Amino acid sequence: MTNATTTAAPVVVVDEVHAGYLPGVNILNGCSLVAQQGELIGIIGPNGAGKSTLLKAIFGQVNVRGGTIKLEGADITGLKANKLVSRGVGFIPQTNNVFPSLTIEENLQMGLYQNPGIYKERLEFVTGIFAELGKRLKQRAGSLSGGERQMVAMSRALMMDPKVLLLDEPSAGLSPVRQDEAFIRVSEINKAGVTCIMVEQNARRCLQICDRGYVLDQGRDAYTGTGRELLNDPKVTELYLGTLGT
Ligand SMILES: Nc1ncnc2c1ncn2[C@@H]1O[C@H](COP(=O)(O)OP(=O)(O)OP(=O)(O)O)[C@@H](O)[C@H]1O
Ligand SMILES: [Mg+2]
Repeated sequence: MTNATTTAAPVVVVDEVHAGYLPGVNILNGCSLVAQQGELIGIIGPNGAGKSTLLKAIFGQVNVRGGTIKLEGADITGLKANKLVSRGVGFIPQTNNVFPSLTIEENLQMGLYQNPGIYKERLEFVTGIFAELGKRLKQRAGSLSGGERQMVAMSRALMMDPKVLLLDEPSAGLSPVRQDEAFIRVSEINKAGVTCIMVEQNARRCLQICDRGYVLDQGRDAYTGTGRELLNDPKVTELYLGTLGT
């Protein structure tokens, strides 16, 4: 049997991961996820479900006590963030994701501290998606709006030419128009060939644009399917979409 799913290569495989912050308390309780090459994966679920923790587990920022995380087949479980960045994992945390006292240009350079030689080439790629930032490179990031900062944060992570981009709530705290823009930009990044794993509180919107989604509940993947399947699943609607946006 051949179809797109069976022939695609997995970029990230999270297999039965148990992870937590405090001794003896696991937040992730056997959580699994697969992101195939070129996919846009959405992760939704109630507050406290462990969505951010899952991204942090992939990015080596929380203790993984069981299970494995693989990047293109290689075990990366527990590797530190700097190693993960050089292997092609980009992470955009929800908050504090730019250096406010630095200019846009300096923020982009910080994203490349491990490989400054490719600056010019990567700047071209990034300003191809975020043209407006290219015109304002000397502006301090602290003087930007929330939506603009989010774009600097995405651009900075893209500077290293990541194989996979982990995004934690890129639309949070933005006005409705800016939220739309954030989703459009994530789609553009994905269409440019970057596999994306995006956590979102704007669940419907997330499922509308993602290829496949995962609903996390109490540290486990409770439901998975294409974005459309999850949107049309009465249980998912009743339990997770009822009050979470339109
Ligand atoms: N640094 C930490 N130390 C201890 N517990 C933490 C830490 N960060 C998160 N937690 C706990 O882990 C659980 C899951 O948190 P997490 O941030 O992963 O949830 P989430 O699904 O991202 O929620 P939200 O939708 O509110 O962002 C929560 O109970 C939270 O209190
Ligand atoms: Mg979170």
